[in-house]
Amino acid sequence: MIQFPPIPVEHCVSSRLAEVDFNQLEFGKYMSDHMLVCHYSGKEWKTPAIVPYGPITMQPTALALHYGQSVFEGMKAFKLADGRASIFRIRKHWDRLQRTLARMCMPPVPFDLFEEGLKQLIALDRNWIPSAEGSSLYIRPLVFATEDRFGVKVSDEYMFIIMTGPVPPFYPRPLRVKVEDTYSRACKGGTGAAKCAGNYGGAFYATQLAREQGFDQVLWTDLSPELHIEESGTMNVFFVIGDKVVTPPLSETILEGVTRDSVLTLCGKLGIEVEQRPIPAMELLRAHRDGTLREAFGTGTAAVTAPICAIGVREATIELPDYSEDAVCKRLFRAMSDIQRGKAPDTEGWLTTV
Ligand code: COI
Repeated sequence: MIQFPPIPVEHCVSSRLAEVDFNQLEFGKYMSDHMLVCHYSGKEWKTPAIVPYGPITMQPTALALHYGQSVFEGMKAFKLADGRASIFRIRKHWDRLQRTLARMCMPPVPFDLFEEGLKQLIALDRNWIPSAEGSSLYIRPLVFATEDRFGVKVSDEYMFIIMTGPVPPFYPRPLRVKVEDTYSRACKGGTGAAKCAGNYGGAFYATQLAREQGFDQVLWTDLSPELHIEESGTMNVFFVIGDKVVTPPLSETILEGVTRDSVLTLCGKLGIEVEQRPIPAMELLRAHRDGTLREAFGTGTAAVTAPICAIGVREATIELPDYSEDAVCKRLFRAMSDIQRGKAPDTEGWLTTV
């Protein structure tokens, strides 16, 4: 096997670790000491480098700022009992990054560069991984167009960055979500299945309106007369109806969540029956009325599983009872966390340890 060479490291002069209050973490507030940076030009990725986390230089004309060639991943690393770090599902995240890059006419990032970049960066900043239950080191790989011109074109130059930071559990309390019947996150033939920056920026407005109405997030739908449910905020979405876990099938308007895939695998292991099928919003109201809607939850890297306590469907609001520790969403959260932290066997080969 060809070994990827050690990536050159410029160490930070003094670590910022002591400035972080690990008991008061906020998602996205703290960045670890180092980041990986790699440039693409002349149709090739150049030698990567690990450098102190800090500002980057680019021209105001950098194409990403104008025409939106900017994509990212969200991943996590955890501290194991023996002090090593585990990085969750590198290959699966890389696969999705490749699909996103292809959709946005951006060059593929070689797997070796992605994997070794992650391993060497996280090994270097391993002291930044928090150990408290529910917390983790969030990893943000990012690729964006840097070519310096504002002509409308596919960029010939890019920057690939991996940065990391310690994060607490994503949602401290269950979410109130509103079925969206006016605004769309994704459309047929669009970029909804890609993890590109514009999908997130485009979602802010509807989310802001929902917040003004007392909700935390929107439940995105296909805006058809049946309002088929697609995603919850920035997450995939699951319901427990009767004895089955039900989730919308993947499509060109739904992001293929790595956590979604992991949860489906874990449902199989826990003997929970799953149905992937279209879910009209009215079905949620009916299931609530007949007492079979037992749970609703989002899944995503940041949150793992995020319980939903209320669903607004037009004028009606479904209030769901508090979830006990036996609820499916809580069992799945524990099963995932146990694997991620090395407390349960990694039978699927999801972890890379460094
Ligand atoms: C994640 O769940 O990791 C995401 O990428 C969604 C969000 C934090 C942007």
